Amino acid sequence: MKTTINKVRNYLNQEVTIGAWLANKRSSGKIAFLQLRDGTGFIQGVVVKAEVNEETFKLAKGLTQETSVYVTGTIVEDTRSPFGFEMQVKHIEVIHESVDYPITPKEHGTEFLMDHRHLWLRSKRQHAIMRIRNEIIRATYQFFNDNNFVKIDPPILTATSAEETTELFHTEYFDEEAYLSQSGQLYLEAAAMAFGRVFSFGPTFRAEKSKTRRHLIEFWMMEPEMAFVDHEESLSIQENYITYLAESVLKNCQLELNTLNRDLDKLNNIKAPFPRITYDEAIQLLKEKGFDDIDWGDDFGAPHETAIAEHFDKPVFITHYPASIKAFYMKPDPERPDVVLCADLIAPEGYGEIIGGSQRIDDLELMEQRYDEHRLTGDAYNWYLELRKYGSVPHSGFGLGLERTVAWFCGVDHVRETIPFPRLLNRLYP
Ligand code: 4AD
Ligand code: MG
Repeated sequence: MKTTINKVRNYLNQEVTIGAWLANKRSSGKIAFLQLRDGTGFIQGVVVKAEVNEETFKLAKGLTQETSVYVTGTIVEDTRSPFGFEMQVKHIEVIHESVDYPITPKEHGTEFLMDHRHLWLRSKRQHAIMRIRNEIIRATYQFFNDNNFVKIDPPILTATSAEETTELFHTEYFDEEAYLSQSGQLYLEAAAMAFGRVFSFGPTFRAEKSKTRRHLIEFWMMEPEMAFVDHEESLSIQENYITYLAESVLKNCQLELNTLNRDLDKLNNIKAPFPRITYDEAIQLLKEKGFDDIDWGDDFGAPHETAIAEHFDKPVFITHYPASIKAFYMKPDPERPDVVLCADLIAPEGYGEIIGGSQRIDDLELMEQRYDEHRLTGDAYNWYLELRKYGSVPHSGFGLGLERTVAWFCGVDHVRETIPFPRLLNRLYP
């Protein structure tokens, strides 16, 4: 019977065959322990000299790292391993021998591992991170589908910028100039006027010369946009969504969290409601914490965000930023037009801004005024302005950075490990 490692529990005390790679091996004169992986998981195969023919034992002892094999044997319980099962190997068939696999069990430097990302993905740690990423994606679709959102796919090639114009990737579009999408938001606003509640989940691009542990050039963003939803209601949807993600990962990724030695208390703590402070209060808090360099009107850097996050034991919303440091489309607070109805969600443990969101300007005149102030000229935005002409309604939306969320949930330091093939300031290979 052919099966996969994640299903072996169904074959207790039965003989099965698994297609796998040899991740690692230990052996003595009488026994060989094979660490086998097949993509669905890891299992130990035990080859006992006295129980197999001479040829099989010799083959097992000589197996090299990453050789692909079909292994046949009996599945038994193994209470010592976190996985709970092992295979008593009877027979091994080599599919392809791997010679001089470059990533050995010894320590390698980060640049070396990044150069071998196509192989590094096979390691237990990377496998755990990608599985958690997959669970976050799965749970995202589940949450938004359960809440009656329609998935809408915005274009990647665009004629407009949606965020900072200085961070655009330029490309040729026949005889026009085009940019790679920084955010699907503007298109999602159009879709929200057609479908009420929509979301997108796709790659976005920022030609940002930032070399930090939180910045990628190409990253995946989850963006909901909601008609008839104001700033406050949007915050409660955001915290419910994040809570649902944490619950799903805790429930469905126990082995992976274990592999990563993740502190589960930290994840159990991610439960709505999340604390909220205004930008004004955040400035006050920073001053109390000894940040003398920050003044009203300045944007927060990573050290500021980390200091604010440390003050709370949960993710925290910072709301009502000055209009001058936020995007053109954010709606001013009617009671105080120098600040906008927006929030950034800051994760604990130094993971920084996970979500950026706001209520959008729904008034045509004000939007036109903002266009002038931001020098966004030309006809490319006409369609966006027209959304404010024909039955404009209050609406809000937000964007969650997938890789920062994965880094946070996994407890890994740098976003480069949270996407299969990271695009960084100095890296386009592999
Ligand atoms: O705050 P940002 O720039 O917001 C927008 O793009 C809005 N248009 C979203 C919306 O309202 N629909 O980006 C949203 C999130 C950030 O909070 C962060 O998590 C992530 O995207 N992000 C990045 N992640 C990795 N690398 C980068 N260079 C990122 N820039 C933003
Ligand atoms: Mg932001």
